[in-house]
Amino acid sequence: MLTLLAILTVSYIIGSIPTSIMAGKMMKGIDIRNFGSGNAGGTNAFRVLGWKTGLTVTLIDIVKGVVAAVSVVAFFRHHPIGAFPDINEVALRLLAGMSAVIGHVFTVFAGFKGGKGVSTAAGMLIGIAPVSMLMVIGIFLLTVWFSRYVSVASIFAAVAFPLIIAIRKYVFELGGGLDYYIRLFGESFSFHDSLDYHLIIFGLLVAFAILFTHRANIRRLISGTENRVTFRKHA
Ligand code: G3P
Repeated sequence: MLTLLAILTVSYIIGSIPTSIMAGKMMKGIDIRNFGSGNAGGTNAFRVLGWKTGLTVTLIDIVKGVVAAVSVVAFFRHHPIGAFPDINEVALRLLAGMSAVIGHVFTVFAGFKGGKGVSTAAGMLIGIAPVSMLMVIGIFLLTVWFSRYVSVASIFAAVAFPLIIAIRKYVFELGGGLDYYIRLFGESFSFHDSLDYHLIIFGLLVAFAILFTHRANIRRLISGTENRVTFRKHA
């Protein structure tokens, strides 16, 4: 129990690191939550602080999710402070990752008003199911390219993840050998056991959470006032 609490707490604190808020303070002496969309996240850092800072913030936010889901769990397995939680590895990594996402959205370091959790959730899932996440990232990038809305791409990507896991389980399992090659490329768990149900259930939870954190974006999309991405330099 103590170990589980430690894993969740450390993950929450890592997720809470308010990357975009720190970048705004350091780069321009501003609180990014008062500019652009008002969101403390990578997309708004792109918008308000420029692409280099936006990219850096996004990458760090992704790393927060990977570290929580992979390194924090591994650390406490090798340095036990009590009994290691008796739940399966994927579920534990998902819990740690979710704790980091909650930290990112409700950051203890900035009045519990953080970002929308997309990059940190992506990091958590990259650390657990990298091949599926490559497909999700493809869907995200294509949606940004064609729609020019990062929020729409985030929502599509979040919904796509549990669907991809389910399709890989129910379609590719029928197809036989392909799953072996997919596993060769880095996903350490078998799609032939029950662990993928955890991914589908947590994936659905993440999708609902992302829909919830994007409720203002959805309202703006409906009213036609959502921010669009521009790939051209301003004159
Ligand atoms: O990852 C957040 C993105 O989907 C939307 O960000 O700043 O346009 O609300 P923003």
